[in-house]
Amino acid sequence: MSEIRRDIKVEHTPQAAAMTAARIFKEQVLKAIDDRGVAHVSLAGGTTPRSLYELLASRSTTDEIPWGHVEIFFGDERDVPLDDVESNYHMVQRTLLDHTPIDWSRVHAMRADAEDIDAAAREYEGTIRHLLPPDAQGMPQFDMMLLGMGSDGHTASLFPSCGETLNETQKLVTHCYVPVLGRRRMTITFPVINASRNVLMLITGNDKAEIVKRLFGKGDTSLPAGRVKPRHGTLNVVLDEEAARLL
Ligand code: 6PG
Repeated sequence: MSEIRRDIKVEHTPQAAAMTAARIFKEQVLKAIDDRGVAHVSLAGGTTPRSLYELLASRSTTDEIPWGHVEIFFGDERDVPLDDVESNYHMVQRTLLDHTPIDWSRVHAMRADAEDIDAAAREYEGTIRHLLPPDAQGMPQFDMMLLGMGSDGHTASLFPSCGETLNETQKLVTHCYVPVLGRRRMTITFPVINASRNVLMLITGNDKAEIVKRLFGKGDTSLPAGRVKPRHGTLNVVLDEEAARLL
């Protein structure tokens, strides 16, 4: 991890970590909009970012971010309908998007419940390629890539069991069957994660302490999250004290 610019912040509580993440998120989204008129954002699912989304949805922050200039994508999705309580889209819609003046035509849900998930992944990749400007290597560039991390070191839906998917160098979006979940997932890949202008990882909770120590304390790059190495910007990692207690 040493060859990238990385900043690790440890906050006392999960709420304080969410507040720091919200500050970083807002700063980088506003800079993207100032610089290019739009912020291309990829959001994380799971439970950790809910408090961040609720903060971003609060009146003060909603007024401060010109949401009509934000283009929303998802880092991964479960193979359930978008109105299913398990859906990352559903969680983001309820905790954030429903409370903002977002332009819904600029919200791009992943359809991991599609009959042909391969075609759906290719279609999602096409949308990313169509809407996002490329970096010098021709890779579409997100302005803000928000990620979480599982206690097994997965990020997005790039799980340790995803094998060759972790080594993908061409596809931006793919899918993976996750035995431990017994379910399929659609996910972005490391090439597009690492082309992002800014990557923000929000990781909280005692159950993440061991994996945080392996990744950020011992630099264990064998973990999927160890492959998050943004070429262009800074990897901002925000932890709470429980997740950081073994560092
Ligand atoms: C998902 C997420 C996933 C998440 C980690 C951590 O679909 O679950 O996108 O990558 O970030 O699983 O999840 P928690 O925040 O719930 O611990």
